[in-house]
Amino acid sequence: DQVSLWGGRFDGGPADALAALSKSTQFDWRLAPYDVAGSKAHANVLHRAGLLSDDELAGMIRALDRLAADVASGEFEPELADEDVHTALERGLIERAGPELGGKLRAGRSRNDQVATQFRMYMRDAVRVVAGQVLDVVEALTGHADTHLGVAMPGRTHLQHAQPVLLSHHLLAHAWALMRDVDRLRDWDRRTDTSAYGSGALAGTSLGLDPEYVARELGFSGSVENSIDGTAARDFVAEAAFVLAMIGVDLSRLAEEIILWATKEFAFAELDDAWATGSSIMPQKKNPDVAELARGKAGRLVGNLSGLLTTLKALPLAYNRDLQEDKEPVFDSVDSLTVLLPAFAGMVATLRFNTSRLEELAPQGFSLATDMAEWLVRQGVPFREAHEITGACVRRCEQRGIELWELDDDELAEISGHLTPSVREILSVPGALAARSAKGGTAPERVRDQLSAIRAEVAAA
Ligand code: ARG
Repeated sequence: DQVSLWGGRFDGGPADALAALSKSTQFDWRLAPYDVAGSKAHANVLHRAGLLSDDELAGMIRALDRLAADVASGEFEPELADEDVHTALERGLIERAGPELGGKLRAGRSRNDQVATQFRMYMRDAVRVVAGQVLDVVEALTGHADTHLGVAMPGRTHLQHAQPVLLSHHLLAHAWALMRDVDRLRDWDRRTDTSAYGSGALAGTSLGLDPEYVARELGFSGSVENSIDGTAARDFVAEAAFVLAMIGVDLSRLAEEIILWATKEFAFAELDDAWATGSSIMPQKKNPDVAELARGKAGRLVGNLSGLLTTLKALPLAYNRDLQEDKEPVFDSVDSLTVLLPAFAGMVATLRFNTSRLEELAPQGFSLATDMAEWLVRQGVPFREAHEITGACVRRCEQRGIELWELDDDELAEISGHLTPSVREILSVPGALAARSAKGGTAPERVRDQLSAIRAEVAAA
């Protein structure tokens, strides 16, 4: 009797093509340890409700422990006829406990509340791993921010030189974005800290089982308030997929910069050999494949999120088989990030910055023009006029192929009587950096503050 979960009212087993379509063990087998844990908790609650004797409980737990060990060793594996992980493990239990005792465990539970709960359990564990790996990237960034404190670089908007910033300030900007992702994961975990066991197929259980007890056995703070919601909701999956996609997108922005920085044209940074790849034909090549794979995987993570949301859209309550399509995308997001993040952290940690080039380029492209305009404002010139005057200076410099600080006294005076030679004192990178000393600014002391703030957050995470 292959279709042992529902044989009673059926004449025969499913058609081969249906079985092939229906089967999910090829991807849901990773829920197996959680299914066994759920079964042990369920056995306990059946026992508490008087539905299993002391001996039966002991026998059940023994059989489940053996099953868990056999799953872990690979001794027990899903068979072709097992529809999903839950079906396979019921078969495994019956093989170990016998049909009489093994057949008692299914009372008061459904694969609908099983899968909803075990998926939460799996995701909570997986997300914890991802969060730890994201923190490793953050630490690689804070490490560079610390060792390079004081190094200026060209800050950009529209990819054009804008204002000088500290390299540390720039790197920490990426780190803060990733810290918010870690915070999102923590926040998500708080919302996902609810067991759906006891929901049954959709309406709850009539057997006097205590969902709160099972929830606590499985490490949840409590159980769902509504059994329909418990079995039908997948916003926890979509929300996790969003945060995982956001991590991918945040990594891709840094990845893109690293790809640019490693070019001959930028030459801001060099990749360590261990974190770069060569070419099969061009002997000179050193390619930023880790960063490119990060950029590429971001697209895949976004695709997983949008696929999932599309599956959920307009799905009526409660459980529908469409929901089986919820796992592969988010498993893929988890797998993609868990393989990407360690490589990404390694690449970042071993980057070598070309600090003299960064420093040299920092004031170029008229990136001190704003400082000139603000100096004029401090002399009492309205900003509108200061902007015009500075713009005229830039135009003159462009015509002559020089930088702002190379304008001589006569040229300055000719452009505006407000431009006394002492304006040149502020046309320096250290001056421009130090001036931005309000909270959040790129002044060295503010960046030092940031560094301690983010380190405190990492330590508390
Ligand atoms: N394997 C299914 C899933 O992943 C759970 C089984 C529920 N099946 C059912 N016919 N009610 O969603």
